[in-house]
Amino acid sequence: MKILVTGGAGFIGANFVFYMLDKHPEYDILCLDSLTYCGNIKTLEPVMDNPHFKFVKGDVTDRKLVFQLFEEEKFDVVVNFAAESHVDRSIEDPGVFLRTNILGTQTLMDASNEYGVARYHQVGTDEVYGDLPLDRPDLFFTEDMPLTASSPYSASKASADLLVMAYHRTYGLPVTISRCSNNYGPYQFPEKLIPLMIKNALADEKLPVYGTGENVRDWLYVKDHCKAIDMIIHDGKVGEVYNIGGHNEKSNLEVVRTILKQVGKSEDLITFVGDRKGHDLRYAIDPTKIHDELGWLPETRFDDGIRQTIDWYLDNRSWWEEIISGEYQEYYDRMYSNR
Ligand code: NAD
Ligand code: TYD
Repeated sequence: MKILVTGGAGFIGANFVFYMLDKHPEYDILCLDSLTYCGNIKTLEPVMDNPHFKFVKGDVTDRKLVFQLFEEEKFDVVVNFAAESHVDRSIEDPGVFLRTNILGTQTLMDASNEYGVARYHQVGTDEVYGDLPLDRPDLFFTEDMPLTASSPYSASKASADLLVMAYHRTYGLPVTISRCSNNYGPYQFPEKLIPLMIKNALADEKLPVYGTGENVRDWLYVKDHCKAIDMIIHDGKVGEVYNIGGHNEKSNLEVVRTILKQVGKSEDLITFVGDRKGHDLRYAIDPTKIHDELGWLPETRFDDGIRQTIDWYLDNRSWWEEIISGEYQEYYDRMYSNR
């Protein structure tokens, strides 16, 4: 089987590449990634010499390049991770989110239609369901809920999902969509909550918690997400959406306190800062469908996953210290000073 993995130099895409090469050593994987600020070719170093892996630097909206790749490589399966993925950046500058997340998806599906694939899989997010109230713990996101996005990021991902289902109905493209809750684990760019808080705690810097810190996210260890996508591309039903999440809701404050405790730092480092515009209150996935249909269950408990993640950031300082020495500092100052 030959798989095109887009965005494979990013957090989840890279973890997926590692997972698949390990689980299915006979599969061929081609990673297409334009290496934005978030893509890191160093992450893929361990697999660069694997004869079953190939890396191509390029943009998913580059029609000529994408069509040429499909013609040459004859992919069986496409898994589209490539995206602009950070909500705060989408609030600052929505344009690139619409281009990559919507037009990139269109380009990949046009090429999939033209050259034929057995499966086009869209990596989606639970943020397309909007948010849930904090005082209704009985409510969860199910696949049949209407899409209501709050941020330009989630609106772009919801638009892409609609387009994917339209390509299935109109052109018969064999699609599946997964919508996962918040991931954490190795190789996550330190602009997202967990790696940012680990990095700041290790440096004895302030931990900027938006608003009251009561917002809830449903955390899943990245490897469990990769396993779910592997199951969906093999056994998921064409035309279906699968929610992925492990019933692991935590408030941001709980997450930050856990990190501080595990790295042995004081809670005095917590600083409450101005809230994110349009900040979603609570995300919570109902994973019944993927469990019942495909037998998927998360394997990593949060306590173990967060320990492994902190250990990874401690053992791989050079990976993130290199990142934060560049453009990142400007981003950080822009986002957090005077907040
Ligand atoms: P990420 O930002 O870490 O990685 C995105 C990757 O896409 C980077 O390697 C980047 O270089 C690449 N990319 C961006 N624009 C591109 C373009 N135009 N052409 C080619 N490559 C491009 O993101 P992530 O956290 O790994 O998320 C991957 C996917 O999973 C996204 O589609 C995201 O919406 C989805 N998702 C993420 C989470 C999460 O918690 N991180 C949860 C659910 C779903
Ligand atoms: P984030 O990791 O950006 O993921 P998402 O917004 O896609 O869920 O943020 C997770 C939660 O953490 C969200 O409620 C916003 C909050 N947050 C902070 O409180 N401080 C921060 O510095 C960041 C980056 C996020």
